Amino acid sequence: MSDAAPAPAATLVLFGAMGDLASRLLMPALVHLERDGLLDGDTRLLGISHGEGDDAALREKLKSFVEDEGDGEAWARWAPRIAYLRGDFTDAALYEDLKARLDGNAVFYLATAPGFFGPIADRLGASGLLDERDGFRRLVVEKPFGTDLASAQALNAQLLGHAEEAQIYRIDHFLGKETVQNITVARFANALTEAVWNNRYVDHVQITAAETVAVGSRGKFYDETGALRDMVPNHLFQLLALIAMEPPNSFDAEALRTEKSKVIAAVRAIGPDDAVRGRYLGGSAGGKDVPAYRETPDVAPDSNTETYVALKVAVDTWRWHGVPFYLRTGKALSARDTEIVIHFRAVPPLMFRDTPAEALPPNRLILQIQPGEALKLEMSVKRPGPVIETVPACLSFAYADAFDLGHRTGYETLLYDMLVGDQSLFQRADQIEGGWRAVQPLLDAWRTGEPEDYAAGSAGPTSADALLARDGRSWHEIS
Ligand code: BG6
Repeated sequence: MSDAAPAPAATLVLFGAMGDLASRLLMPALVHLERDGLLDGDTRLLGISHGEGDDAALREKLKSFVEDEGDGEAWARWAPRIAYLRGDFTDAALYEDLKARLDGNAVFYLATAPGFFGPIADRLGASGLLDERDGFRRLVVEKPFGTDLASAQALNAQLLGHAEEAQIYRIDHFLGKETVQNITVARFANALTEAVWNNRYVDHVQITAAETVAVGSRGKFYDETGALRDMVPNHLFQLLALIAMEPPNSFDAEALRTEKSKVIAAVRAIGPDDAVRGRYLGGSAGGKDVPAYRETPDVAPDSNTETYVALKVAVDTWRWHGVPFYLRTGKALSARDTEIVIHFRAVPPLMFRDTPAEALPPNRLILQIQPGEALKLEMSVKRPGPVIETVPACLSFAYADAFDLGHRTGYETLLYDMLVGDQSLFQRADQIEGGWRAVQPLLDAWRTGEPEDYAAGSAGPTSADALLARDGRSWHEIS
């Protein structure tokens, strides 16, 4: 049980209720919230989909990822509160039905194909369903939010035509991860870290989201998207913003989001000279045989979509002047590893002139986001003995050793926050547009040309190593 109070009752209207996200992540998270006493007993779920179905069929589908053990009782309390509504997202009649079934608080959760985000918002707006007279009305939008700067601006304008910014919850599921939420605590609750968090002490920062999974059955979506759009302006920039922002004056959502927006706005637009794109060949990754990207179902055989990207990013603020942020992400790599590594500057070598460089590496702080959630600080210590000999050592804190992490999908806090009305973990319009603005030159440049091949199961294309080597640096090993 948590100390937090239960969220107020509301109807969660789930567009796309028969989809993967609903059963794999949302329903188990709602069951966990129920189990932990964080939901009002009158919280309901109204699932909408175009297919034939009824309440029982939806319950059956949503139950598929709920674990019987431990969550059975919470599911039993949830099941009777789940109902199905069949309808076409673009048909005005659906919204009349919805109106008849809703009163009081409602959260409209768009877990649909992105092409429906705007049209659904239009119809919700036109039918008065976003009117907050009888309770709160919130609009939750999943990813992807646009495919470039112009489309993101157009979608923001469309949503904001019907709802206030305070009603719109743009999801970035990385912000639901505990270790991502811990970044602000690691920084601002510790004098030790914040005192050295600037260009006087930090040499550079590396942000990595490496995956072993290949594109698999997502060929159609992925071939139109690619690694840059899929991961960088959203997930990786959110991590960068949390690392690089100035301290907000409170945990108030607007204070936090304003600081993040400011730093995203300060990211210098990235051109092809500071970027590498890769595409995996066939091989084995994560213990599985992987076909070459271009041989994946629903991928064009002559596709030039990238499955890997590495970037050198400049953040034009006083604090970070001259400190590069290196970002990389890719599919079918050697290990699953999401991490942020802060590389500190070397100490003046005066006392250690004869020490080989490998015996005195600069300090590194590693925020291991997933898996193996941890915080590690690499320092140098003296090897016991009569002479001064330095040895690298690592102070390590593993979350699993201190906390019972239990089974969580990462959507629990996001769902709770959208019910209590806390927008801290959701993207504001200006953050989204700032992210797209920074990568737009690359999107334009990469319409043509080819990514560099890399073997599935490797650490990525060799040019990614060269990107750092030209600055005299190297990547932290993916492991
Ligand atoms: C999604 C991307 O947003 O994030 C996927 O569309 C990616 O391609 C996923 O695999 C990674 O998320 P996580 O939580 O597994 O690190």
